[in-house]
Amino acid sequence: MFEIKKYHPLKSLNTFGVEATAKYFAELTCRDEILEFINNPEYQHLPKLILNGGSNILFTGDFDGVVMKLNTGHMKVVKEDNDNVWVEAGAGVKWDDLVNFCADNDWAGLENLSMIPGNVGAAPVQNIGAYGVEQKDCFCRLQAVELATGKELEFSKHACLFGYRNSIFKHELKGKMLILSVTYRLSKNSKFNTQYGTIKQELEKMDVRHITVKSIGEAVRRIRRAKLPMPEEVGNAGSFFKNPVVDKHKYYILSNDHPGLVAHPVDKTHYKISAAWLIDSLGWKGKQRGDAGVWHAHALVLVNYGNATGKQIINLADDIRRSVFNAYGIELDPEVVIV
Ligand code: EPU
Repeated sequence: MFEIKKYHPLKSLNTFGVEATAKYFAELTCRDEILEFINNPEYQHLPKLILNGGSNILFTGDFDGVVMKLNTGHMKVVKEDNDNVWVEAGAGVKWDDLVNFCADNDWAGLENLSMIPGNVGAAPVQNIGAYGVEQKDCFCRLQAVELATGKELEFSKHACLFGYRNSIFKHELKGKMLILSVTYRLSKNSKFNTQYGTIKQELEKMDVRHITVKSIGEAVRRIRRAKLPMPEEVGNAGSFFKNPVVDKHKYYILSNDHPGLVAHPVDKTHYKISAAWLIDSLGWKGKQRGDAGVWHAHALVLVNYGNATGKQIINLADDIRRSVFNAYGIELDPEVVIV
C-alpha cells in the first residue's frame, strides 16, 4: 500500500539538487500500485509528473500537482536465442544497474551508455545516447499506461519515433504516458562500437588487448569521470542543451568564419554543431554566478555548487543562449526538461 504525502520536498530527488516541493507525492513500487493510483478519482484531474531518477529535470518552482516516483525495479531475461538475449527492466531500475547486469553477462549493446545517471523509464523518453550509441539501437519494446484512462499499451521501436534526444513521449504523448518497463535486445556476439571520440585511446591507455563488454564500459566510465561532474558531488543534469542541427549552407558559412568549429554531418544536407564548442568559444567554461555555474571541464554542463535555485540556473542558461545566438545566429534548445 502506498502513501500519498503532501508538500513533499524534491531537493534530494533531482540531480541538480535544487529546492522544490510537490503538492502531492506518491512513491509507487509495482504495476498494481501505479494503476490503483492513476485510477483514484481524487488525483485523476491533477497535473502529474513522473520522476524517474530526476537526472534530466530542472525545477524552477514548486509542482502544483502529483509527483509520481517509480520504484518498479525488476530485471529479467524474457527471451534468448543463439545470438541474442532480450532483457526486460522495470522503469525504476537504475540505468547503470541494467548496463552492469548486461556487462556481467557479456551481453553487448549498452556498454557505451555506461554511467549515465537516471532510471530505465526515462531512457526512451529522451533516447539517451553517448559515444556513438543511442538506447534505440538495442530497444525492442516498452509497456506503458495512459495516465488519463489507465489503459495499458505496448510501443514498438517504430511507434516510439526515436530521434536525437527525442521520441514521441516528448511530443504528441508528452505527459500522457507512464512507462512501466522497457525491453532491450543484447548481442551474445560482441560487436563493439569504439569509433567515437576517445574510446580507442582510453582502451590503449588501459592496456586492454582483448576488448570485452566490460572493458569498453570501463573506458567509457574513465572518460566520463574525467569530463563530467558526478551528481553525487556537484548538482547537474548532464548536457543542458542539445547539439543544434543546421543546414549545410549555414554550416559552410560558420566553418569558414570559425575554422575551429566542431561539427559532424547528420545526413547529406545537415550538420550537427557541437554546442559545447559554441559555448566554450565564448568563454563560458568555468564561469560561476553565485552557486550556478558552467562546469570547468565541459561547457555543455551547467552545475549547482550548493544552493542555486532553478531560476538562477535558468537565468544563466538564458544568458548563454543569448550569447550563442548573438555570436553565431544559432538557437540552443535545452535538453533538460524544465518544470
Ligand atoms: N568541446 C569543447 N569544449 C568543451 C567540451 C567539448 O569544445 O568544453 C568539444 C570538443 O571538441 C569535443 C566535442 O565538443 O570533442 C564533443 O564533446 P563530447 O564528446 O563531450 O560530446 P558532446 O556533444 O558535448 C554529447 C552528449 C553527451 C554524451 C557525449 C559523448 C548531447 C547533448 N550530449 O555531448 O550526453 O555523453 O556526447 O557521447 O548530445 C547528456 O545527454 O546528458 C550527455 C552528457
